[in-house]
Amino acid sequence: MIKQLRKAVLPVAGLGTRFLPATKATAKEMLPVVDKPLIQYAVEEARAAGIEQFCMVTGRGKTALVEHFDVAYELESTLRERGKTEAMAALEGTQSEPGSITTVRQQVPLGLGHAIWCARAFIGDDPFAVLLPDDLVLADKPCLQQLAEAYYETGGNIVAITEVPREQTNRYGILKVGRDDGRLVEVTGLVEKPAPKDAPSNLSIIGRYVLMPEVIKYLALMERGAGNEVQLTDGMARLIGEQPFHGLRFEGRRFDCGDKVGFLEAQIAFALKRPDLADAVYAFLKTYV
Ligand code: UTP
Repeated sequence: MIKQLRKAVLPVAGLGTRFLPATKATAKEMLPVVDKPLIQYAVEEARAAGIEQFCMVTGRGKTALVEHFDVAYELESTLRERGKTEAMAALEGTQSEPGSITTVRQQVPLGLGHAIWCARAFIGDDPFAVLLPDDLVLADKPCLQQLAEAYYETGGNIVAITEVPREQTNRYGILKVGRDDGRLVEVTGLVEKPAPKDAPSNLSIIGRYVLMPEVIKYLALMERGAGNEVQLTDGMARLIGEQPFHGLRFEGRRFDCGDKVGFLEAQIAFALKRPDLADAVYAFLKTYV
């Protein structure tokens, strides 16, 4: 029987070194694309996929991420008094069901695998989604919803995948591929950040996963992988052969917002999708290119 997917883990404890100095005193996941912080895109996408319970894996200096989904009593009552209905409406996506967001602390950023292991009590015996908020996907159907639908077809573990240029395989988790029907791919191996010459394919995992709770026992081994970090990819690789493991070529466009160029591109792409901004943005873009 395929269990319902209701839980999501949001790892947000990274140092965000590529975005210093912006991330010195604020979390990378609070950086906005147009007018919404990355963390809110992730939470809204998860809600659209039926997620009801969230666990943020946080670290020092990350309290704003949790407060973003709290009631801002003074702000809200001031807006109400002043009749600022539009501004009130803008806060809608920040409201959350009481008790639906929990946090755990990753005291030292030892890697993404370690961050997921920190959420083990939250995960318990349930399947869970992982969303990396710095990967942003522009899609008609939210990416995690596509992944959840595929999970209900296949069961087991499933990750969102995309093709990357060969010379960039050393930035991502890369798949070794078995059967491939053009949409769903059977995963026969996983390697984190392989050099282009060693990469088994150019299909990369993006920051959207549906995983089975058994991955935790492999992460608990605390084996260090690429970059001397505890890699989620290495823990997932251990599940291959034990459980179904698929990749889904999702429909949509991914922006790596942990990278400056990807972040700037996302600003443009998301702004051009906004009816209130598209014309003005298009007009100024023309003056630069
Ligand atoms: P990144 O590889 O982008 O690392 O992490 P980072 O620290 O956020 O950024 P840079 O590379 O220093 O600029 C991918 C995701 O995993 C989380 C990050 O918060 C991000 O969402 N992460 C990473 C953790 O929660 N803990 C870790 O130990 C490492």
